[in-house]
Amino acid sequence: MQAKIQSGLILGIESSCDETAAAVVREGRQTLSNVVASQIATHAPYGGVVPELASREHLRNIMPVVRTALAEAKVSLQELDAIAVTEGPGLAGALLVGISYAKSLAFALGKPLIAVNHLEGHIHAVLLEQAELHGGPLPLPALALVVSGGHTHLYLARQQGQSWSYRNVGHTVDDAAGEAFDKVAKLLGLGYPGGPWIDALAPHGDPKAVPFSFAQIKPKVHRKETLQEAFSQQFFFSFSGIKTAVLRYVQTHHMAASIEARRSALASIPQARPTDALALCDQKTLDLIASFQRAVVDDLRRKTFQAAEAFDAASILVSGGVAANRELRVRFTAEAAERSLPIAFPSLSLSTDNAAMIAAAAWPKFQAQELASPNLTAVASLTLGR
Ligand code: KG4
Ligand code: ZN
Repeated sequence: MQAKIQSGLILGIESSCDETAAAVVREGRQTLSNVVASQIATHAPYGGVVPELASREHLRNIMPVVRTALAEAKVSLQELDAIAVTEGPGLAGALLVGISYAKSLAFALGKPLIAVNHLEGHIHAVLLEQAELHGGPLPLPALALVVSGGHTHLYLARQQGQSWSYRNVGHTVDDAAGEAFDKVAKLLGLGYPGGPWIDALAPHGDPKAVPFSFAQIKPKVHRKETLQEAFSQQFFFSFSGIKTAVLRYVQTHHMAASIEARRSALASIPQARPTDALALCDQKTLDLIASFQRAVVDDLRRKTFQAAEAFDAASILVSGGVAANRELRVRFTAEAAERSLPIAFPSLSLSTDNAAMIAAAAWPKFQAQELASPNLTAVASLTLGR
């Protein structure tokens, strides 16, 4: 199908995990609407996303969410230039809901369909606002840290003409950073998802109280590596060790009873919030939370800035749910200032999963006529870059 630019308006649809989202964005830089139906309440009792429930909730939410996004943008379906949808990575069943809906809509309207990688979307969440709020693009190449519940990746992002290219220069070898936040919060009897709870409680503790060692966040290497491998492994992350270290600390300091008491006290509060947990945490727990957050943030910061230096990046951008973390923003911003490197984060609503980032990432693809085939399907383990 030959794409024709009329309005510059793209409808983005995102359903890769536990948020059903739709947004209308003009020319990749002006957000006209950004609607997210969160499933947190559905998954909270299980302490994690239940794939079958996620697909069912997406099915329930997709039509009203798209309708609301169009209404808030005051845009009709006919005015759209294209429909963009997340192809992967994510939960296959969840992705399929968004993809099937977007395909039917594109087919019925005779409009082009654009497939977007969710990770590229997170990067474009920052680029979208950079153009929209800060008036100019980030200097390129940019070193992008995409850090969420499912991902911890470092990319070197460049633009050649309309096309963006990404080089994957680092990743986690086990848990994602957000997953570590979620698991540690669960272990300590806090709410779900854990990141915002730990973020809110950490300032009340001493981040130096529990010295998590570097070995606890260092990936294990099982054989002698080549120089090239040793170079790339500098930018590998590993967060399963620190989670085990927290568990061991809890066991050796006999914290199980107080954790259980906190868990049941929070369960009895309707819609408990992190502020409710503060009174239920003793100083030892708050110190443990602060030390855990400091260790993770410092590891992310150290490797991101080392990679920026090694790959000669002209700026840094941080995106994904964990980019909402306040200590992360403060410590990354301070180091960027020391190094005179421009740094950018998305506003809080664009840090976590949303569809404005999908519509924004689709714009250069639309201009370059990189359209999806009618056979588009979900790719649960889609990767980004080389
Ligand atoms: O990007 P996102 O909405 O979904 C994925 O693609 O995974 O990220 C969700 C993740 C969860 O692990 C959540 O605990 C974490 O982001 N998160 C945070 C904060 N807000 C959300 N982690 C640390 N501090 C926060 N303030
Ligand atoms: Zn995400």
